[in-house]
Amino acid sequence: MEIKVTKDAKDIKTEVLVINKFEEDNTSQELANTYAVEKDHFEGKFGQTYLLHTYGKIPADKILIIGFGKKDEFDSNKMTEAVAKAVKKLRQIHAKTACFDFDVMCDYGKSAVIGAYIGDYAFDKYKNEKAKHLDEVIFAKFSEDTVKEGIIFGEAMKFSRDIANEPAAYATPTKLAELASSFEGLQTEIYDRDEIERMGMGAYLAVAKGSAEAPKFIHMKYTGKNPKKKIALIGKGLCFDSGGMDLKPPASMLTMRDDMSGAACVLGVMRALKELQPENVEVHGIIAACENMPGQNAYKPGDILTAKNGKTIEVDNTDAEGRLTLADALCYACELGVDEVVDIATLTGACMVALGTIASGVMGNNEDLIAKIIHIAEKSGEKYWQLPMYKEYMDGLKSDIADMKNTGSRYGGASAAGVFLQEFVSGPKWAHIDIAGTAFLEKPQGIFNYGSTGAGVRTLLNYVNEA
Ligand code: BES
Ligand code: MN
Ligand code: ZN
Repeated sequence: MEIKVTKDAKDIKTEVLVINKFEEDNTSQELANTYAVEKDHFEGKFGQTYLLHTYGKIPADKILIIGFGKKDEFDSNKMTEAVAKAVKKLRQIHAKTACFDFDVMCDYGKSAVIGAYIGDYAFDKYKNEKAKHLDEVIFAKFSEDTVKEGIIFGEAMKFSRDIANEPAAYATPTKLAELASSFEGLQTEIYDRDEIERMGMGAYLAVAKGSAEAPKFIHMKYTGKNPKKKIALIGKGLCFDSGGMDLKPPASMLTMRDDMSGAACVLGVMRALKELQPENVEVHGIIAACENMPGQNAYKPGDILTAKNGKTIEVDNTDAEGRLTLADALCYACELGVDEVVDIATLTGACMVALGTIASGVMGNNEDLIAKIIHIAEKSGEKYWQLPMYKEYMDGLKSDIADMKNTGSRYGGASAAGVFLQEFVSGPKWAHIDIAGTAFLEKPQGIFNYGSTGAGVRTLLNYVNEA
């Protein structure tokens, strides 16, 4: 799908002209007003669509009208949604080219383009019958700059979704490391098993032990022209989570190729920085990639692990592996002397129980950073909800033989994971985003298909861009 901009949609020869209708207004096209509005009483409620043939009366073959709803309820997120819906509709009618000509007051170019990418997305690499896609989308009215930013965001999401949708046999730790190394405009370091051991990452290494796949610790670095703030983004990179010796039942294991969605998000964000070029930040993208498998060398319940900061952990459940890999990654990030660290992880089923597939959980050690991230998420079209970090949650993690256990009570599991992670943060402001429920959909939801949603990509890109 190629995205273009034009000043004037009037003379564009395209298959479909896509226009909008607010409930209180007519559309910008006479033809549409006559047939859709006057004859068929098309109201323009948000998300409604109406398709009409033009029979040569204008250069486009067809007009697609998208309902924009009430004027005072319309915003950038609605723009994304509306365009995604329109593009899905265009694909249904096998259109190849379209021109979007909306009468809106703001420059919603970025949101519109993101919507086009979401609407056009399909993971069809392994299907013989490929999905129908648009070849060309032209946007009238929007500025070139915002459309360009939309393309960067759209490509980042697409990249992230593709890699998270891939089977574990493809998206291995080695593959993630190769991808990270291939990104331009970054300095990237990959550490393998021996180096991970030498760095003292005993918790991460234990998780990796049961798998034949080699662990890869990935550190990407972006330096803006005039960096004033140092940020670390850590993505949980469990390329497959079988549960380990505490093996998951089949239904829970089925989608555990998505347990590297946090890593996929960080890869998508870091890859986009060369294009986005935020000036005032240094950004570290960190992934402790591995698999959690019950192999002969697998770590076992009752093992005691020593993390990079020297704290010891009794393994209560080998399926609580994400927090172990993140513990060492957090220690590593703190040693870099960053100002802020944000981790993003498909961490707990408990978060999914609490917030469903609608919202991601957010915790951390700094209320301002948490509030900022929730606010940015809202503007980015994502929903983040703060979960508590009461110190009492640590009581459940008390161990008789080590500094802490990796799991406690079944209840309040997302917060327990949060306070566990906090044990490995010293220095920076820190936020933790739990995307267990939002990263991967088992059935379509809103504008998203089955599979990966690219959770966190838009929010974290905006976060580093605004830093
Ligand atoms: N990767 C899972 C969490 C998860 C669950 C992600 C569902 C996406 C969808 C994580 O490693 C895990 O297994 N967590 C356990 C922790 C428990 C053993 C304390 C869980 O949530 O059941
Ligand atoms: Mn697990
Ligand atoms: Zn996991």
